[in-house]
Amino acid sequence: MARVEEVIGDFVQLKKAGSNFKGLSPFSEERTPSFMVSPVKQIWKDFSTGKGGTVVSFLMEHEHFTYPEAIRYLAKKYNIEVEETVQSDAQKEAAGERESMYLVAEFANTYFQNTLHKTESGKAIGLSYFKERGFSDETIKKFQLGYSTDEWSGFTDEALKNGYQLKYLERTGLTVVKETKQFDRFKGRVIFPIHSMSGRVLGFGGRILANNEKAAKYLNSPESDIYHKSKVLYGIYYAKQTIAKEDNCYLVEGYTDVIQFHQTGIKNVVSSSGTALTPEQIRLINRLTKTITVLFDGDAAGIRAALRGIDLILEQGMNVKVCTFPQGEDPDSFAKQNTKEELQHYLNDNAKDFIAYKASLLMQEAKNDPIAKANLIRDMVTSISKISDQIKQEIYVRECSKIMDISEEVLFSTLAQILKKENADFRKTQQKEQKAFEVIKAAAPAKKVDVQFELEQKIIEILLLYGNHQEDFEDLIYKENDAGELVLEPVIQQARVFEKIYLDLQDDEMQFGNENFKSIYYLLIDFLNQNDEFSIENFIQNIDPPLASAVTSIVMNEERYSLHNWEKNNIYPKPKGQNVAQLVSETILSLRCFLIDQKVNEFKQTTQNTTEDHSGVLEDVLNYSNLKMLLSRKLNRVL
Ligand code: CTP
Ligand code: MN
Repeated sequence: MARVEEVIGDFVQLKKAGSNFKGLSPFSEERTPSFMVSPVKQIWKDFSTGKGGTVVSFLMEHEHFTYPEAIRYLAKKYNIEVEETVQSDAQKEAAGERESMYLVAEFANTYFQNTLHKTESGKAIGLSYFKERGFSDETIKKFQLGYSTDEWSGFTDEALKNGYQLKYLERTGLTVVKETKQFDRFKGRVIFPIHSMSGRVLGFGGRILANNEKAAKYLNSPESDIYHKSKVLYGIYYAKQTIAKEDNCYLVEGYTDVIQFHQTGIKNVVSSSGTALTPEQIRLINRLTKTITVLFDGDAAGIRAALRGIDLILEQGMNVKVCTFPQGEDPDSFAKQNTKEELQHYLNDNAKDFIAYKASLLMQEAKNDPIAKANLIRDMVTSISKISDQIKQEIYVRECSKIMDISEEVLFSTLAQILKKENADFRKTQQKEQKAFEVIKAAAPAKKVDVQFELEQKIIEILLLYGNHQEDFEDLIYKENDAGELVLEPVIQQARVFEKIYLDLQDDEMQFGNENFKSIYYLLIDFLNQNDEFSIENFIQNIDPPLASAVTSIVMNEERYSLHNWEKNNIYPKPKGQNVAQLVSETILSLRCFLIDQKVNEFKQTTQNTTEDHSGVLEDVLNYSNLKMLLSRKLNRVL
């Protein structure tokens, strides 16, 4: 049912890479993709963190869902009914705390919408307010806007009546508890639910309607276990696909700007709730596009403060543009007055590169003030130093030199100063990182030369991919010919791949050297033996998480090399061929040859280091050498 690439595609921008998809890891900050999804195997692997698994484990990792939550999420996405029995008190108790908070938020979201659409006060006050703002019915429904009735505890009472516990109402901030009294945080406000990237309700914003009160115009859910303001972008759920498609994200101030843009037809827009973007928020966008266009109101007051936050966006390797609106207009009012085409044209014509914009803006202020101008140079060059691309840096220096009427030399030398200082700081941290890296290198098995490791891994991979295939295996068997001599003759034997592997390896009493591989191997043989149908997904679900992670590493191993276009070491066996039987034989024979070589070498060592009688040992060596010759002949046939 659930396609791993579809589900993950909602969170990570995936690009086709051969038979797989790749993208930027959602679990780390990175610039070159190391995240892979295999539609064939229905698994994913993140090489930057080592995580990997099935579609369900992705949701558990990424959304921090519990297992039932992940299943419910998939059921919802694919419109599948899950048998969700009415929760008993005991079950409600047992559900995780966070889950309980999500449920409360979900209940509130439905309640606020019902209040807006189905109660007299909701329609008269809330709905008419939204209509007055110019929001269409469709828009109101889409953004799940609501209304909280103007009673002290209308919502809280309803929630308690429906079996939701007060502690979760309080923890989500929906109810304010003072001593023995409880009242609704959003009393008498219109409601804007705030969704996660995947569409879960995390919190709410509420706008007051009476305009002569002292109370704040906008009130938001407080920080909680499910709502972290710094990690959320309002609108991201509705915008993510268009952001990726248009390769640009508009950043506006608040709820109404986002909604009005959508209604006008521009959908790649999010808001950071009036504050500067945090690194976590930038990372959310970074997964979808490299370009942010920051939209400012017409009044210049807030712009300077906002400019400072933009260096952080540059630092994260993003391209930043800015666009201002005419005096007195904000994105909300401007979008409302214009058609989609007009708005799009305006944005296209007026979006300026951030650096150039900042230079000309500050220039206007510092024109006749030498000290201000000196500060301005530093300020500008600091911004430029945040850009990692050297060519871009140089272009910006040239441009700023023109705008600010300062020689390029001065700007370049200031840049060099700043970079030098930063480099010194950077080197310190880098030295630390280098040390950590060396430790990892020493600990990891020396893969490229460890033939046994590679071959054992290959056997597991074959079992995972083709374990239950029925194949024709060619074997060489001694037969007596007409002249009575023993000769090797090829015979074809049909077998399932896992049987062939198991029996052949058993012949040599071969043991896996790697403990992980050994465990996986026996689990696999067992699983294949007991189940006619085999899927990697199924298998992974039935084994311990650490082994499951090892399994995804193995099946995605080939892809890892394609990810970076590394040349894989020239180790047996060759990359997957058309012929599974051949691949199986080749791998088993290679491993057997390898192990025999090892044995023979061991014997040689023994005979070199002692003066005892080694006639027994020599006989063993001879036997092994004969076997090796036989195996080599078989191997030559398959190669
Ligand atoms: N905003 C906010 N908190 C505030 C003020 C504003 O979060 N105290 C955000 C809201 O998301 C709002 C956006 O900034 O949508 C624009 O602010 P503003 O124009 O003041 O809000 P409006 O609701 O449009 O109010 P008005 O009708 O007075 O323009
Ligand atoms: Mn406004």
